[in-house]
Amino acid sequence: MSAPPKTVLQASPEEAAAIRAAVRAAARDRIAGPQDVPGLTRLLADPRVSDPIYDLPRPIDEENVRRWVAESAALAEKGECLLTVSRDAAGEVAGYSRITVWPERSSAELAGAARADRQNSGQGRAGVARSIARIFEDLGVRLIGLTAALDNVRSAAAIDGAGFRRMGERESLRPDGSVRRSLYWEMTREEWMLRHRL
Ligand SMILES: CC(C)(COP(=O)(O)OP(=O)(O)OC[C@H]1O[C@@H](n2cnc3c(N)ncnc32)[C@H](O)[C@@H]1OP(=O)(O)O)[C@@H](O)C(=O)NCCC(=O)NCCS
Repeated sequence: MSAPPKTVLQASPEEAAAIRAAVRAAARDRIAGPQDVPGLTRLLADPRVSDPIYDLPRPIDEENVRRWVAESAALAEKGECLLTVSRDAAGEVAGYSRITVWPERSSAELAGAARADRQNSGQGRAGVARSIARIFEDLGVRLIGLTAALDNVRSAAAIDGAGFRRMGERESLRPDGSVRRSLYWEMTREEWMLRHRL
């Protein structure tokens, strides 16, 4: 299951409320819904897409993906989650991203994937940077923690390249209770601003 960063920040009630409001506002136009379930299921059924991701519902079938989309929408209402899909020119789902937010800790985690024909694009680092900008700048979160499977060299390169600090390993809990060892990174909003806005 999604896990908050190792570093513990404490948000004031005002900061947490502002983050929840920002997540709800962002969710209004672009959150995944029932119409995305068949395409999302096709995307995630490909192990080249879903195998490296620990917090997906399994087995991947329409029923489980429908439940996951509904749970994510309920969390979005609370200001704690943004599940979005991207589509190609033909309207087929070509990728997804899921941001989990802990407003009381001013913290977030990000997971996502591109369809297999869009992987190895050379754009992984830019994709991570776009999502990170959205989290820090649009949602107002102050800390992001990321994980990747120990052998996920593309994710690791994209995350390193986006400026995250490596902080060893951690155990990630899959929904079925099994554990995956992960590489672990963090970045603060201050670090992001220094890197991208100065
Ligand atoms: C992770 C993902 C979004 C990256 O997008 P991508 O278009 O495949 O990534 P890129 O082609 O830009 O490659 C990312 C980096 O890995 C490097 N890389 C690629 N293959 C590599 C290899 N075999 N060994 C070492 N580095 C490699 C690239 O050079 C690039 O680094 P750079 O930005 O420093 O040049 C995509 O591969 C994906 O969806 N994978 C499946 C799901 C997944 O792993 N999700 C993330 C879970 S944390």
